[in-house]
Amino acid sequence: MAILTRTTLAVVTLATSCLGSLPFVKHESRLSAPPNWEQSHRAPAETELPLRIGLAQPNIDRIGDLLLDISHPQSKNYGNHWSAAQVSETFRPSVEALDGVRKWLVDEGIAHSRIRLSNSGGWLEASVSVAEAEQLLKTEYYVYNHTLEDVQHVRCALGYHIPEHLAEHIDFITPTIHFNSAASQVRSNLKRRRTAAAMLVRQAGLPRSADVDNIENIASGIEHCDTHITPDCLRALYNFSFAPQATEKNSFGIVEYTPQAYVASDLDMFFDKFSKPQVGERPTFVSIDGGFLQTNMTGEDYNGESALDLQYAMALVGEGQPVTLYQVDDGDQSANGTSFNDFLDALDGTYCAVHRNDSSDNDGHDCGTVTPTWIISTSYYFSEQQLTDAYKTRQCAEYAKLGLMGVTVLYSTGDNGVASGGNMCLFQNGTESSSPEAKRFSPTFPSTCPFITGVGATQIVAGNKVSDPESAIYEGIFTAGGFSNFFAVPDYQKTAVQNFLTNHPPQYSPDIWNSTGHSRAYPDIALNGANYVIAVNGKFDRVFGTSASAPALGAMLYAINDARLAVGKKPIGFINPAIYSPAFQDAFNDITNGTNPGCGTEGFSAVEGWDPVSGVGTPNYPKLLQKWLELP
Ligand SMILES: *[C@@H]1O[C@H](CO)[C@@H](O)[C@H](O)[C@H]1NC(C)=O
Ligand SMILES: *[C@@H]1O[C@H](CO)[C@@H](O)[C@H](O)[C@H]1NC(C)=O
Ligand SMILES: *[C@@H]1O[C@H](CO)[C@@H](O)[C@H](O)[C@H]1NC(C)=O
Ligand SMILES: *[C@@H]1O[C@H](CO)[C@@H](O)[C@H](O)[C@H]1NC(C)=O
Ligand SMILES: *[C@@H]1O[C@H](CO)[C@@H](O)[C@H](O)[C@H]1NC(C)=O
Ligand SMILES: *[C@@H]1O[C@H](CO)[C@@H](O)[C@H](O)[C@H]1NC(C)=O
Ligand SMILES: *[C@@H]1O[C@H](CO)[C@@H](O)[C@H](O)[C@H]1NC(C)=O
Ligand SMILES: *[C@@H]1O[C@H](CO)[C@@H](O)[C@H](O)[C@H]1NC(C)=O
Repeated sequence: MAILTRTTLAVVTLATSCLGSLPFVKHESRLSAPPNWEQSHRAPAETELPLRIGLAQPNIDRIGDLLLDISHPQSKNYGNHWSAAQVSETFRPSVEALDGVRKWLVDEGIAHSRIRLSNSGGWLEASVSVAEAEQLLKTEYYVYNHTLEDVQHVRCALGYHIPEHLAEHIDFITPTIHFNSAASQVRSNLKRRRTAAAMLVRQAGLPRSADVDNIENIASGIEHCDTHITPDCLRALYNFSFAPQATEKNSFGIVEYTPQAYVASDLDMFFDKFSKPQVGERPTFVSIDGGFLQTNMTGEDYNGESALDLQYAMALVGEGQPVTLYQVDDGDQSANGTSFNDFLDALDGTYCAVHRNDSSDNDGHDCGTVTPTWIISTSYYFSEQQLTDAYKTRQCAEYAKLGLMGVTVLYSTGDNGVASGGNMCLFQNGTESSSPEAKRFSPTFPSTCPFITGVGATQIVAGNKVSDPESAIYEGIFTAGGFSNFFAVPDYQKTAVQNFLTNHPPQYSPDIWNSTGHSRAYPDIALNGANYVIAVNGKFDRVFGTSASAPALGAMLYAINDARLAVGKKPIGFINPAIYSPAFQDAFNDITNGTNPGCGTEGFSAVEGWDPVSGVGTPNYPKLLQKWLELP
């Protein structure tokens, strides 16, 4: 799988190069700043920048094959996960890359003593002035203002250059054209209950539905699962039951980004109704980069996502099980963090650009300080279009490394059908917009990364029982799904995607979706995401979203890990090669009804077999457990 290649860009010799004829190439570029960033003025020449050069990692183009080797159910190496040291050694940048880049910097007048190498050998860093950076990278730096928040970025206009002979040794350089998204732009997928009309215009601040009236009635059975999902409804839907045997060896992590925060009394209110023995239980709190449970701001927007994720993750795994909360700071609620890299830095010291011996850099940035849990569920996402190719590629490879170490990474795919967060679609030139003139589908990231498991949402059709087949979700949200514009289709998914395109070819013009059949498709799997009853800010409410589906699936996979660990087997790790394999097909409830509208279309359709709305379907827990117990 040669999925991690970058297109080679045209070679240009820049007249301004002080290295005479040394040819430079444009290394990365973008058409415009992302939505909500506005170019202001040229950055003052003396402004200091922490220039960081991400060195290319050897063997990274083979990472998909290496991952397949230990996660394909038919591989003789199934479950032979790698150690962190093995991962670090295999992908450590070469001496040639390091020396070449260092020589360039020194030749350009950046003294040796100013250049530092990260502990992992992955990044070179030097503090340089804007003038020096402009000279090095043949570009111009500007101040960009965020239009919604009081934040500024110093970034170069629309691209930067590097010496041609170093192109193969450099992944990307920061700060250049990568913009972090403000907290408000990294969508937490949760949606409050809304009327269909309100949902289409995405109004905020609608009146709360006072619709969980008879909580006793709802809590005590599975009669109302079509209108009110509870832990018992999910157990009934997927035949999920769990008696833990290997608690000490097991782990399950939920990721939240500050200012999103759980409220302890809400957990207890929920447990009191749905899991009495857990009253008083809390997740194990792990702060990343100073993430904390802020209490200044309350309401469903600030507490709803955490309430949902933790209440369902904890209630489904049950009393006394170790659920970890990774609370990541998003950089003063500013446009400083939240692009998932901060979280990944904390899990993997080889990923971050730290150059000191201590475990955090001078900004209090955690680096390799956190041991990942076996299952990690995140209910936030970006649009694929907003991040540069090199950036997505490097982050995606990082998920593969977690998979190599046996970690299962789940992301909810998003809640806007074939559009990305905020109902954004793409113009033909690739820029993102909520204008109705932007008609091209906008895939979400990281669900399009082939090394994570993207989780979509289903629902029980009104009036139906838990034993009736579910549909793609149509109330509150539409499940994000479709085809990447960047990542290639991974081997494990090829047959499923080909079958879908052959048997149910979507009738849309290739102008509006990636119809090539060569691109990574999502979601991978689905699970109920409608009408979840949660306790938030002292009340019971119902919420909707792929946000709900990911942690609930995580709980079931946690239980499967428990069963494997109890018999001395390894955790399930990266699950996609297994769930797409023929042997697993009867372990899913195929979803064959519903669509995922967006961008002025009906979106794709759920059909027999895999589809870009419900993936392989919803889990049939006892069968999945059996399949995974049969594997070595
Ligand atoms: C992309 O296309 C849209 C719509 O035609 C236009 O408004 C926008 O300016 C274009 N952006 C660039 C960077 O060309
Ligand atoms: C950007 O923000 C700075 C500081 O607040 C301000 O001085 C400048 O005028 C702003 N630029 C634009 C284009 O609004
Ligand atoms: C799931 O549960 C239902 C009813 O409880 C039962 O009829 C069915 O056989 C179960 N399926 C599996 C695969 O265990
Ligand atoms: C939030 O609370 C802290 C103290 O915990 C206080 O310093 C800060 O000013 C508050 N911020 C807002 C926006 O109220
Ligand atoms: C990031 O946030 C820190 C404070 O947490 C601030 O000092 C720094 O200037 C910010 N960086 C950018 C690029 O916005
Ligand atoms: C940093 O770590 C390296 C290698 O482990 C060691 O040689 C060096 O002395 C350490 N430096 C400091 C300042 O502790
Ligand atoms: C379609 O996807 C493939 C693989 O992801 C990519 O190479 C190609 O550029 C995409 N096409 C368009 C028009 O985005
Ligand atoms: C199919 O889904 C639609 C909503 O998209 C729903 O109205 C309809 O009842 C569903 N049909 C079946 C057979 O589940």
